[in-house]
Amino acid sequence: MDKVPEAVDQNKRKGIFSSLFRDVAVPIHAKLMLSFVLVIVIIGSIFLVIGVQLTSNRVFAEAQDKVRNDLNAARAIYDSQRQQVGSVVCYTADRNILKEALFTGEMDSANEELTKVGAIAGLDIFGVTNKYGKVLLRTHNPDKYGDDLSHHAFIKSVLYSEGCVTSTVLFSEYELNKESPSLAEQAHIPLIDTALARPVTKTEETSGMVLIAASPILNSRHEILGVVYGGILLNRNFEIVDFIKQTVYEDVKYEGQDIGTATIFQDDLRISTNVKNEDGTRAIGTRVSEEVYNQVIVQGEPWIDRAYVVNNWYITAYEPIKNVQDEIIGILYVGVLEQKYTDIRRETMFTFLGITIAGILVAIGVSYLFARQVSGPIKKMVSASKEVAAGNLNTRVHVKSNDELQFLADSFNHMAESIQKRDQDLKEFATKRIMQSEKLALVGQLSANIAHELNNPLQGIVTFSHLLLEDNKNLDTNTQFSLEKIVGQANRCRDIIRGLLDFSRQRQPDKSFFNINSIVDDCVSLVERQALFHNIHIIRNLQSDLPLAIIDPSQIERVFMNLIINAAEAMDGSGHLTISTRENKNTSDIEIAFSDTGTGISNENLKKIFDPFFTTKEVGHGTGLGLAISYGIVRSHKGSLLVESEVGSGTTFVVILPKEESGDNGKY
Ligand SMILES: Nc1ncnc2c1ncn2[C@@H]1O[C@H](COP(=O)(O)OP(=O)(O)OP(=O)(O)O)[C@@H](O)[C@H]1O
Ligand SMILES: [Mg+2]
Repeated sequence: MDKVPEAVDQNKRKGIFSSLFRDVAVPIHAKLMLSFVLVIVIIGSIFLVIGVQLTSNRVFAEAQDKVRNDLNAARAIYDSQRQQVGSVVCYTADRNILKEALFTGEMDSANEELTKVGAIAGLDIFGVTNKYGKVLLRTHNPDKYGDDLSHHAFIKSVLYSEGCVTSTVLFSEYELNKESPSLAEQAHIPLIDTALARPVTKTEETSGMVLIAASPILNSRHEILGVVYGGILLNRNFEIVDFIKQTVYEDVKYEGQDIGTATIFQDDLRISTNVKNEDGTRAIGTRVSEEVYNQVIVQGEPWIDRAYVVNNWYITAYEPIKNVQDEIIGILYVGVLEQKYTDIRRETMFTFLGITIAGILVAIGVSYLFARQVSGPIKKMVSASKEVAAGNLNTRVHVKSNDELQFLADSFNHMAESIQKRDQDLKEFATKRIMQSEKLALVGQLSANIAHELNNPLQGIVTFSHLLLEDNKNLDTNTQFSLEKIVGQANRCRDIIRGLLDFSRQRQPDKSFFNINSIVDDCVSLVERQALFHNIHIIRNLQSDLPLAIIDPSQIERVFMNLIINAAEAMDGSGHLTISTRENKNTSDIEIAFSDTGTGISNENLKKIFDPFFTTKEVGHGTGLGLAISYGIVRSHKGSLLVESEVGSGTTFVVILPKEESGDNGKY
């Protein structure tokens, strides 16, 4: 399988945006702006989603809390209504007129009194039984009596507990008919098909749910004489639900609909409600959703959540209504229109969206300004660097931003300035060098020609002046002195000519293995006896096991002699000259150092001492060729000649020669 090239692989890893920016030529300010906007859009979207979610959760949680409290209030109202029935019944049970009637069996006056009380209290059912539960009197149906109610749990519990009982109970159509035919009619509710309700086969409800209270009628010995019972039929009785709506929701409307509703269910059937149908009538006969039915009626748990009620979504609270035996027979419900809260959520979302869009617009504006501020100087620098690259070194960038960009621009200007200066220096140096080497070549050529032409006549002068001096023993002192002068000056001329010839010819060295120490010894013994060296102490520090080097001994001797004589002349005839030799183990070179205690060389002269004809000596005493020739010889041995000097203290020249021919150091 082919290996993916590293660069391609890396590019893949950099992701969509970098590769987009890489492949398409996008200006830097556009990239900056895009990045800004992208960040704002991402952050804005996250805030939008989280903000809306948090707010709507909070709003719905608040709504649920509210509806839970509303249900508590509704229950309190329902219970107080039950207590009210209880108070009327219990109070009536204590009335003497009833006790007397039971004692005598004469019920007419009792009937009259109970009818009055029942009418005032708004009771739909009001009757009396004997101590066995047999009905003695029904105020709403006086002809119906003599039947047995002892099977009814509320009568039974009174007979056994001898206390007042209040509860919610179911009355069958038959029982309702006995209490009052109009009650059975009121209780009758045809079932209406309701979306989401559990499926049922029956089509109507004939029984009724009654808020009931019963109390024992006791004699002075606390023996039960009978039971008085009374109740209110809840079917189609809207007093409680409307009172709840009025008290808890203050009849507030939202978009034409009641914001809060209350309902009493018999089992899952709406028997008393202010929830409206589409046509505005009360939704009697509709039923609770199956989901709520299962939780509240079947499992006996309250429901606090959103629920579909008749034709709308509500945030609802349902709880079971139980009878005397603690069996669930119905549901008490309150709910608020969910529409209000979904509208709040939508408004919140639009507010957040508005803020986010405004933020993005502001970010685009700010990032545009910022990007321009950044890209402006960068553009300037790009065009300036193009100019510099094209050779226009006068180009400068002007940026005033007091940040890294200004620093960059300043550095760029500094760099351009340095390049310009170096360019200038280089040009000057090159021109000087060319002129110098041309001059040197010319001088060398001229010197070589002159030296060559002068050499033969000079040789004649030297030979004949020597012969004259040797052959004519009887010369007078003056002539002898003059002849000796001629011989001396001719010798000097010969030396200069030789030097010039050596310098101009640059003869290739004739190399062989040689001991450098012995050359040093030869040089020292040659100069020792000269007058110049009488007061000079020559110290030799020679490495005894110095390896042999491949050199031209006569040329190297010439170098050493030049250095020794220069040292002696710099010390003006008195001082110490130390000559050391050693093998440099690291480089395998042989180093020969000549240290004197002479005048030293100024920094300015140090740069020139290897130039031909540079001398500080008086006219006639130095040709200025000694070091130039020595440098040439050392270079032709692939070695180097170093100098270190301090004015007033002395000078050290170091000749470095490779043991064998290898690299070209060429340092000085
Ligand atoms: N050891 C030294 N101490 C101080 N100055 C030195 C030393 N060696 C060389 N110089 C300086 O370097 C110059 C050049 O030396 P170089 O040997 O090339 O020429 P020269 O000695 O002046 O003349 P020549 O060697 O031809 O007689 C000298 O004139 C002297 O100023
Ligand atoms: Mg010299």
